[in-house]
Amino acid sequence: MCGIVGYVGKQDATEVLMNGLARLEYRGYDSAGIAVFENETIKVAKSKGRLADLAEKMKQEGKPSGHAGIGHTRWATHGEPSDVNSHPHGGGTVTIVHNGIIENYKVLKDFLIKKGRVFESETDTEVVAQLLDYYYVENHGNPVEAIVKTLKDLEGSYALGVIFADFPDRVFALRKESPLIVGIGEGENFIASDVTAILQYTKKYYLLEAGEIAVLSKQGAAVYDLHYQKVQKELKIADWDVSEAEKGGYAHYMLKEIHEQPESIRKTITPRIENGLPNLEECGITPEKLLTFRKIHVVACGTAMHAGMVGKYVIEKLAKVSVNVDIASEFRYREPLVGEGDLVIIISQSGETADSLEALRLSKKLGAKTLAIVNAKGSSIARETDMLIYTHAGPEIAVASTKAYMVQIAVMYLFAFELALAKGQIDETECRRLTSVLQETPEKIAEILANKEKAQMIASELITADSLLYIGRGLDYALSMEGSLKLKEISYIHSESYAAGELKHGTISLITENMPVIAVATQRNLFEKTISNIKEVKARGAKVILVSRADYQPEKDVADMQFILPDEEDLLMPMTAVVPLQLIAYYTAVLKGTDVDKPRNLAKSVTVE
Ligand code: G6P
Repeated sequence: MCGIVGYVGKQDATEVLMNGLARLEYRGYDSAGIAVFENETIKVAKSKGRLADLAEKMKQEGKPSGHAGIGHTRWATHGEPSDVNSHPHGGGTVTIVHNGIIENYKVLKDFLIKKGRVFESETDTEVVAQLLDYYYVENHGNPVEAIVKTLKDLEGSYALGVIFADFPDRVFALRKESPLIVGIGEGENFIASDVTAILQYTKKYYLLEAGEIAVLSKQGAAVYDLHYQKVQKELKIADWDVSEAEKGGYAHYMLKEIHEQPESIRKTITPRIENGLPNLEECGITPEKLLTFRKIHVVACGTAMHAGMVGKYVIEKLAKVSVNVDIASEFRYREPLVGEGDLVIIISQSGETADSLEALRLSKKLGAKTLAIVNAKGSSIARETDMLIYTHAGPEIAVASTKAYMVQIAVMYLFAFELALAKGQIDETECRRLTSVLQETPEKIAEILANKEKAQMIASELITADSLLYIGRGLDYALSMEGSLKLKEISYIHSESYAAGELKHGTISLITENMPVIAVATQRNLFEKTISNIKEVKARGAKVILVSRADYQPEKDVADMQFILPDEEDLLMPMTAVVPLQLIAYYTAVLKGTDVDKPRNLAKSVTVE
């Protein structure tokens, strides 16, 4: 949460920082600000609200003009969103931007107040700025020494961009837990929370590690350790293209990302299929290794956890290995029964979700092997896991995840096929057949996308509802969870998902004609059961929207509206059936006029617990 950027070079720093922040706005957007050296003076512009509010403010009040500076887009933790609490924050000669939470800020603040320091904001960030300045003064104006001393005092998570008034041609940076990269350009250098912020300028970057301090000037970027020794960094090249992080003619990133799903699947699975069979060897997964796992735990948050739910059904059905799915924030504090012989799969688009990262660390400590399914290259989870499968969805900008979920489940299928084959639960012919069915899903998704008007019509029936229910059984229940989350996070209509057979045990009392029910019934063996549940809610006045397959049709009048999916193998149905659910959520939000790509209060990358 919170996005930070920094720039030093030959271009207009304000423009570069604002462009970078626009790419990072998905990380938080309740306030934004920049600090730029105008000649030798630091000029700050900041505002509560979106980046557009900051741009407007600068239009009215004038914008800083210079060639070095730092910027921030905020998701509030300490202190409400306000102009004062917006970053950058200053303390004496130091100005900083911060992503993360300083856990011991109260102790540090008390210490600084005793030293006569006065605070303007309620933020933990201002405490860091003041502490940096305190040590800077104590160390007779040596910025790196001041940073090292400060860093030793800080507890919590942070990525910091720092400028010192006495060094107008330098930007300093450091991090622990929160991500930060150093972008390397020609005569210009950058810092950013992720590569998307700098892609339009350079693809070259370093990953900054905890305990390293980056010192950027126009000429270069040097990285030091805590003993002031220069660190040799490995230069990385981003394989994402700037156009992938742009809307490309679509009204919203979310719609663009929904449309990118067929391509994302192809890019993710094709390199992992050899002679018609899954091959995950380059990810560190071999049939021999797979045989050593007794039990599997999938741990993740939000949409990624829902991908894990699909994985559970598929792995248990095909490979006959027991799978627990856990929410990372619950798992890490529950003293989970995990140990040697267990495999813990962490799923994460960003690879930076604080709870998922801690769940990974805990699993390793408990002796389990870890496999991470991650989209963001070089992220913390990707770096710390034992085995790693990168999904190749490219940058996902919309806060509501679509294509990242799609490739997460595609990987779960490949993994399940390989595991089932290794365990002798399916033979090679069956594994080959399933793999080829998976390879055909992109065309089927494209077919659904060509008929998206149906989802638009359904959405127009939902916008007046205050509350909605998603129901399904088996894999359809796993899908209902994702459909329901998608709808509520972007349309702000309350929605719940329920196992269709469980309705009678309480939830059915909520049913009225004002509570539409979206029923997912793609599984042939459960079709009649779900239809019975639909009849129960229909008899109580609910409007029913049915997402089902062409070859299984209920009697007339069972559903008020229907979205019919192309024919598909039951087990693979989630790959296609999630698409209408994404589209229904998208169009409902559009019709309600909400901010589809940046829904209120949410952030895409949750780096605080
Ligand atoms: C946030 C995002 C969700 C995402 C979840 C987990 O809540 O808004 O879209 O599913 O975090 O994020 P991760 O990056 O770990 O997949």
